[in-house]
Amino acid sequence: MRTDAAAPTVKHLADYAPPDYEVETVRLVFALDPRETVVTAILSLRRREGAADDAPLVLDGEKLSLREVAIDGRNLGADQYEVSDSTLVIASVPAAFSLTTVVAIDPQANTALSGLYLSSGMFCTQCEAQGFRRITYYPDRPDVLSRFSVRIEAPKSVPVLLSNGNPGASGDLPGGRHFAEWDDPHPKPAYLFALVGGDLASLDDRFVTMSGREVTLRIFVHEKDLGRCAYALDALKRAMRWDEEVFGRQYDLDLFMIVAVDHFNFGAMENKGLNIFNAACVLASPETATDMDYETIEAIVAHEYFHNWSGNRVTCRDWFQLCLKEGFTVFRDQEFSADQRDRAVQRIKDVRRLWARQFPEDAGPLAHPVRPSSYVAIDNFYTATVYDKGAELVRMMKALVGAEAFRAGTDRYFEKNDGTAATVEDFVGAIEAASGRDLSRFMAWYAEAGTPVLRVEESREASGNGVTHTLTLTAEAGNRPVPVRLALIDEDGEAASERLVEVEGHANVVTEGVTPGAVASVLRGFSAPVRVERNLSVDERLKLARADTDPFSRWQAGYALAVDAALSLGGLGDLESPELVADELGAAIAKSVENEAFAPAFRAEVLRLPSLTDLARASRVIDPEKLQLGREVLRSRVLSYCRPVLESLHDGLASDEPYDPGALQAGRRALRNEALRLLLADADEAPARRALRQAEEADNMTDEAAATAALAHAPVAEREAALARFYDRWKDDALVLNKWFAWQAAYTGPGALEEVRALTEHPAFDKGNPNKVRALIGVFAMENLPTFHAADGSGYDFFFDFVSELDGRNPQVASRLLTATESWRRLEPLRRDLIEKKLRSLAERKGLSDNLYETAQRLVS
Ligand code: PHE
Ligand code: ZN
Repeated sequence: MRTDAAAPTVKHLADYAPPDYEVETVRLVFALDPRETVVTAILSLRRREGAADDAPLVLDGEKLSLREVAIDGRNLGADQYEVSDSTLVIASVPAAFSLTTVVAIDPQANTALSGLYLSSGMFCTQCEAQGFRRITYYPDRPDVLSRFSVRIEAPKSVPVLLSNGNPGASGDLPGGRHFAEWDDPHPKPAYLFALVGGDLASLDDRFVTMSGREVTLRIFVHEKDLGRCAYALDALKRAMRWDEEVFGRQYDLDLFMIVAVDHFNFGAMENKGLNIFNAACVLASPETATDMDYETIEAIVAHEYFHNWSGNRVTCRDWFQLCLKEGFTVFRDQEFSADQRDRAVQRIKDVRRLWARQFPEDAGPLAHPVRPSSYVAIDNFYTATVYDKGAELVRMMKALVGAEAFRAGTDRYFEKNDGTAATVEDFVGAIEAASGRDLSRFMAWYAEAGTPVLRVEESREASGNGVTHTLTLTAEAGNRPVPVRLALIDEDGEAASERLVEVEGHANVVTEGVTPGAVASVLRGFSAPVRVERNLSVDERLKLARADTDPFSRWQAGYALAVDAALSLGGLGDLESPELVADELGAAIAKSVENEAFAPAFRAEVLRLPSLTDLARASRVIDPEKLQLGREVLRSRVLSYCRPVLESLHDGLASDEPYDPGALQAGRRALRNEALRLLLADADEAPARRALRQAEEADNMTDEAAATAALAHAPVAEREAALARFYDRWKDDALVLNKWFAWQAAYTGPGALEEVRALTEHPAFDKGNPNKVRALIGVFAMENLPTFHAADGSGYDFFFDFVSELDGRNPQVASRLLTATESWRRLEPLRRDLIEKKLRSLAERKGLSDNLYETAQRLVS
């Protein structure tokens, strides 16, 4: 929190300097207590070679109450050190020495959920990025790697005591207390430290690595949740095997633990040997979790596990290099999911997410490079750009050098940098060395913000069958290499097979012997994170939607046409006769979703028409009423072509097989439930009754949630009954209730804002729980465009009050919520003025956290 009027400090990548002191080992002793945990830290410090002899020792520390400082066993007097809000400075220290500090901290008062805090009575830590400094005084930066050993003492009412690495001694202490020791043989930065203390049960298993190491796997949860851990454990074992097979990476300790906690700012955290998870990202049972929840759990369990190499064994030199671990690890988890499920459908989902979150970020005031060059609060940079665009950069490099050289490159990266804190240059350099390819111009992808535009022009020879495609990148994109996959398609499939074109600025691609009606399919598989501009007729676009042999591009052709049709139907686009286009699309969609040659999961994606947020992203002007109108007209026109198909899919795909979360069954349920969702575009009795019946009869959460959500979003008479039924059934299950909050947050019917406001007072709501806040306020601001952007400003009043209040409690979550306004400049003028006033007055408020201050400032700058 900034208490003074001065602006917070900005850190710059260009200012990097290595630390003056290295920590060879660190011994931590915790005496756990909810209000007064005492932490004793013994650091063996050594001045780095090359550091000045008189370099002061500067340690980070926040919200610590310092009790003792000693050097080599001798206590320092108050005049021998200096303590501020954020540091402990000792002006003069020997070249090598042992430093002991004793501090007290208050976990119960820690509502920011960074450092050591209490979640439902359980002690847990979150140290990335800068939480360790809220535990003890330390050089809290990722390039200081040290060997940690830990002793935890606690009352016996806190029976399970965990930290990183291997368990050591444990036993009783006087006064009803006990202790446990842990030792981590792998040097690590402080952000990977973790500690847990609580009354926990565990589900155990084992895994034998490729080279024969026996690893115990253990998922810790509250006793009541033991029945919901099996899937995460299964996903973990599959991820461990996959990383061996695909990247040659094996696990390196005898124990791997996951702990589920109820209060968590993000999805999960890759602490060495002791991953800590948001309970929502690990717990699942058929009755309580949807197929999508299972998919998320699989991906996040894998993601955190993969960090053991991409993040932990090789970590980041500084926080500017965040994409080094996150972009690469997202790439790895996306590849894992693609191998576990349907590769094409996975690609569609990943790209949809990139478009929904990263493209708007890159096009607005919060745009930043994949490797930012400056920041105020690093927590604000755990973004779609760093994660998802970061993954796309890795994917492009793989395309540019080929799969084999890419794997040789990652092997080289892991080997050369093992046990060190690396940079993006180390990663790209390893791929260069293994492939022999110069990637220096590729580095622009890391350094420049914004989405490049690729213009595609076509010219055909008057005589003969030659076609030339001219691919031109906008000037801002400079000369960075862009891999573009291109093929020609006619009604029978590929008229000319796929080529990979590397565009640097400009390229001419000549294809000979092409049938007259063939259409180019460009950027297949979304081979680069760019926006394509080209003039295709509706017929040509429909041809691609019917016949493109690349499933991603086939899907994309139809989806993009649906977006344009909806925008134009709402008066925001420039298709000439959008009604006709909507009709043709309706007919095409009806055909595709019936086509049994396509996997059900793919057909479900075809049926998933653009959401309001999808339309807002694609629109020059965000006018919620027009977007909603366009979407509704499109939906009902498409429905008029598909109704019988949808009804028969919904009937025919009903199944009484026992529930299995695997991709096959999940794909069929997805298709069936998309059919139901579109049927509900008729605010009619028959589909509503169909949905209500499904909700009542479902034996799994996927079907129950899909039906209840469809009803909850529609202004139908059955809406209240469906919501009440769901609440009644799940009122004691906090995780399941998040769905119930989220559906109501997205409701756009009459009285919507009042509903959301009332829900903030609901006994099941808890503003101290980030999952609840995201489900209600996050969904409201991100997805409920008509209500959030109500023309009278009432949605803004509500939201800004909530965010300001939350900032006093949890700055990271408050700041992230505010990013929901990132596209405010594209709002129609009336709303833009209203929200601008709100943003400016927030940005000028005194007493904001650094996190919220930085986000508000960037939004109005
Ligand atoms: N490093 C975590 C991940 O991506 C994300 C995270 C960041 C979690 C900061 C908590 C705090 O897997
Ligand atoms: Zn990560």
